[in-house]
Amino acid sequence: MGSRSVRFALALAMVAGSVSGARADAIDRRIDALMRRMTLDEKIGQVTLASIAEVFDYDKVASGAYGNVMNFGTAKEFAKVLAAWRKSRLKIPLLHGTDIIYGNRTLFVPPIGQASSFDLGLNRAAAEQAALESVAAGTNWTYAPMVDLNRDPRWGRVVEGAGEDVQLAACMAGARVAGFRAGGLVVSAKHFVAYGFGEGGRDYDAVEMGEPFLRDRVLPPFRAAIAAGAESVMSSFNAFNGVPATANPHLLKDILRRDMRFRGIVTSDWGAIDQLKNHGLSPDPLDLTVATFNAGVDLDMASDFFRKYLPIALAQGRVSKARLDEAVRRVLRVKFETDLGKRMRVDVEEAKATQATLDPRGRAIAIEMGRRTTLLLHDPKERLPLADVSRIAVVGGLADSPRDHMGPHPALSQMGDIVTLRAAITERAAKAGARVDYLEACGACRFPTDTDETVIAEAAKAAAAADVIVAVVGETYEESGEAAARADLALSAPQVKLVEALAATGRPVVVVLTGGRPMLVENILDKVDAIAMVWFPGTYGAIGAAEVLFGDVSPSARLPLTWPRSTGQLPLSYDRLPTGRPASADDKWTNKYIDVAWTPRFPFGYGLSYGRTTLAAPRLDKAKAKPGDTVTVSVAVTNSGTRAVRETVQVYVHDVIASRSRPSRELKGFAQVDLAPGETRDVAVPIRVATLGFHVEDGSYVVEPGMFRIFVGKDATTETAVELEVTGGSRVAPWDAPIPCVDPKTTKSAKRR
Ligand code: BGC
Repeated sequence: MGSRSVRFALALAMVAGSVSGARADAIDRRIDALMRRMTLDEKIGQVTLASIAEVFDYDKVASGAYGNVMNFGTAKEFAKVLAAWRKSRLKIPLLHGTDIIYGNRTLFVPPIGQASSFDLGLNRAAAEQAALESVAAGTNWTYAPMVDLNRDPRWGRVVEGAGEDVQLAACMAGARVAGFRAGGLVVSAKHFVAYGFGEGGRDYDAVEMGEPFLRDRVLPPFRAAIAAGAESVMSSFNAFNGVPATANPHLLKDILRRDMRFRGIVTSDWGAIDQLKNHGLSPDPLDLTVATFNAGVDLDMASDFFRKYLPIALAQGRVSKARLDEAVRRVLRVKFETDLGKRMRVDVEEAKATQATLDPRGRAIAIEMGRRTTLLLHDPKERLPLADVSRIAVVGGLADSPRDHMGPHPALSQMGDIVTLRAAITERAAKAGARVDYLEACGACRFPTDTDETVIAEAAKAAAAADVIVAVVGETYEESGEAAARADLALSAPQVKLVEALAATGRPVVVVLTGGRPMLVENILDKVDAIAMVWFPGTYGAIGAAEVLFGDVSPSARLPLTWPRSTGQLPLSYDRLPTGRPASADDKWTNKYIDVAWTPRFPFGYGLSYGRTTLAAPRLDKAKAKPGDTVTVSVAVTNSGTRAVRETVQVYVHDVIASRSRPSRELKGFAQVDLAPGETRDVAVPIRVATLGFHVEDGSYVVEPGMFRIFVGKDATTETAVELEVTGGSRVAPWDAPIPCVDPKTTKSAKRR
């Protein structure tokens, strides 16, 4: 069997590793037998996760003191770990984790961009490819997907998530977990919990949140990830309602274990146990170890506290032997269920050969991802697609900066492989017989410099010779991701100056935005012809983006988060609760600002295409339904334009009268349809009535009888609606609450165990 088929076989073994019946019993017996042979140090090794370091003590792998490792990203590095591991007495397979977030050798557009495709199959395929490339290099566990919901793009980590909406985030979580697992990785959903709601959009900040909100919005993507097979969950850095999540028994035991029925591993985040001293929990590492371990963290990532202090805690009776055994069993169960033992080998030469070339399958997925995530935000004069042009000026250093195309998590991708926007546009233009002049102007144009004025003026002068100008501006890779919170989402002053100078030439200007979050476009909107967001294009995404710009493919991406007009509007999401004084232009005493409109610049679900789709009046297959029913919303979609398009039909629901205030809109389903010019197709979106409910203070989930408005449209502002009457209510325990986007039939066995 070649290396590729071996990898596929392993991947299949993992998926086939459904843990039921005889296999589960055999694993339990294997664990029992092993536990009887393990020393205390070996047991503690299993709850220890040691990171690569300049001075890494390989002997601790050999002695079993380090039972899991992380960040030995290349096969060569991991081979050293394996050499030590082969000397270990019990040869218990190691979990080897790495942040495989949106690709490894082949980089895709990051998760926030992937979510904008609304294409679950494509997300799954990208995750699977990322996994295959990582397994080849020796990683067997990914710290992804990040399933944190958020509605504040000041937070840099929006780039790693699926945006603000619970339905979309749950769908993406399931798709990405399934893809990673199919490619052979153990999966860790993160960060538990509410990490995306830190005050002020600052990373690591505290969160205060009511539990019904937590259960309605924040938990479902984790539940979807677990239903799809995520074997581990990472606790978050933030304090939650006054208690750090890493030492929060209510979160980890009552909610994650009891209410969400999670039976895998809880790992801490990087150094989080040590950092609890900064939360003021205790200055004493022993206390922090006891608090965390007893709260329900099973695995210590990179604090090395469990290894050092659990023996003392056990001797003092502050941690029970039963608790240690429980955590060790969880770790062992994941290792055996996923057949990790079969992967305790790596062929450095073979991996080198595999890494030397990019996989054609990955390339195809990455290009398709580029097509499906190029989000057309603004094109009032229909200047796009580019046609009948013979000279194009591509302006701005971000157009030709491979490192910035990679975004914040480059993994093992290589700069030399990146097809930049400049290269992709040049190549596509050549096919159309057009020539591209590239003008770097002020480079990334981030921080004002003395030379800006001159270089901008020169670039504008040169660009004026073109038929159309493509200006590439936005974020650099360092301005997005962890620890990259922004207090202002405006484009930088030099970037605005550059765009203004280009617009002043009188030539049509198409702005291509790169980055990991929405940026304010207020001061350029009326000056330019079009604006398209391409996120961080990764290795080949620019090829797909160029195809969209030239009209080979009509843009189909839709916003997975609300795009603000002003940073001061944040946090902002479409699914807010109504107020007693709804915003009104004619009435000062209403829910709005005095200095900026209350509406976003672009709403959730929004995105333009080159076609003209219209939705006919929606139909419901029944006007009355019970909580156990599924209703089907159908709508005829017509493409009256001249180009093939993909439309995303979005179904939002509002519970008109309820015992709690309910969001004015909540996405409950969506479906994509491809339409040839002139074509009409009926699109059906099934909605489980059980998903129309909400959680109440005691954690239970209720569906209340009454009228619901079912909105159907192309973004969250749609006013087209039909009415559904729900007859008879229901109230279920938290673990029986429906999971958005997850077929209840597929979760039954998980719940039983
Ligand atoms: C991040 C995690 C990540 C970990 C390991 C932490 O700082 O919060 O998301 O998995 O580092 O790299």
